[in-house]
Amino acid sequence: MWSRHHLSHAASAYYASPFERAAVLTVDGVGEWATTGIFLGEGARVTALAEQVFPRSLGLLYSAVTHFCGFKVDSGEYKLTGLAAYGDPGSPQTRALRELILERLVDVREDGSFVLDMRYFTFHRGGTVIDVPRWERLFGTARRRAESGGAERYANLALAVQQVTEEVMVRLARHARELTGADALCLAGGVALNCVANSRVLHEAGFDRVWVQVQPAAGDAGGAVGAALAAHHLALGGPRPTAPLPDGMKAAHLGPDIPDGAVADLVRRYGAHCTSYDDFGKPAEEVAGELAEGKVVGWVQGRMEFGPRALGNRSILADPRNATAKSWLNAKIKAQEDFRPFAPSLLAEEADAYLEPPVPSRYMLAAPINTSFNVRGEPVVATADDAYRCFLRTGMDLLVIGDPLFRQADQSAEPAHDSLPLD
Ligand SMILES: [Fe+2]
Repeated sequence: MWSRHHLSHAASAYYASPFERAAVLTVDGVGEWATTGIFLGEGARVTALAEQVFPRSLGLLYSAVTHFCGFKVDSGEYKLTGLAAYGDPGSPQTRALRELILERLVDVREDGSFVLDMRYFTFHRGGTVIDVPRWERLFGTARRRAESGGAERYANLALAVQQVTEEVMVRLARHARELTGADALCLAGGVALNCVANSRVLHEAGFDRVWVQVQPAAGDAGGAVGAALAAHHLALGGPRPTAPLPDGMKAAHLGPDIPDGAVADLVRRYGAHCTSYDDFGKPAEEVAGELAEGKVVGWVQGRMEFGPRALGNRSILADPRNATAKSWLNAKIKAQEDFRPFAPSLLAEEADAYLEPPVPSRYMLAAPINTSFNVRGEPVVATADDAYRCFLRTGMDLLVIGDPLFRQADQSAEPAHDSLPLD
């Protein structure tokens, strides 16, 4: 069996969900020719109901604005989402930009289907993404040079395309509900990593009775999970439990573990100094105290997350009550742009006090929660060795790998000589 790209996305979301019947919406740049899919998941079956095909692509529209704002296509889209938070929703400029996008770049219908004006785009002709001079005339401003400063000047444009994306997603989700009559919704595809859009879908698409389930690995990495699940259920007839687990992704902690002896090995090789907590219990209490004093902590526990989000097993921790923590983390630790957002992890029972609306977001797919343990341009740390070397390079105050706690001030090892510069 060959599982098509969007079927793989759909299967990855539906089979890992707790639902016995659900609408499934998949939205990405393009996979084979499809760019958007609506499916019905029912029992062990996933059936395709509708699709849009290339070049009608919401993901590529978002990538096009990503390119215009000077970020890298296929990896910088999440920066555009972060930048949009700095746009002013009440400003006439944002409203005008949104109207320009809807009048000139994309014609959106009531059911969420849409047509792009291909005179503005080049991706379908094998070019880069957009006709830059035409966009510059349309928006009355130059394309931002890649990775140069001044991204904040493009925040209203980022917000405008974010708003358009949200509106298309809400309409698509409503249409999926009409087609299926289902009261649950599953989401996957790269656009389903847009947590702000997902939050609006959750509240505005009519799936009120039950929650919306987004595949944590909604991007193409999750396609591997979906293809395997599709083969199991659709090709081999594997049954689906009648009362599926509430969380078929098992917290997405499916990556490599820290093996026994890894920390001892690290201590030996680097001459590292750490405190063992065998006699004093877990280091959580001590770390909480240090966080409250403004310290920054690299936090490594158990198996690594699968998918694009750090969910607490490979994370950098800081106190969100500290108003300067975000700028400091961005500048000193992650060496990335100041507009990049962080948001707090918090106890579910405290959500009402801090979140508007209080959306449960276990996988950071309706709201961001924390920041991954890595530096700009590098993948998230996987091994104890990765974590220790990143800790030395960035100057974090503390590192915890399982139980042992390392303090920066106690270390004598030089930052690894094979490390890359931070910028
Ligand atoms: Fe995809």
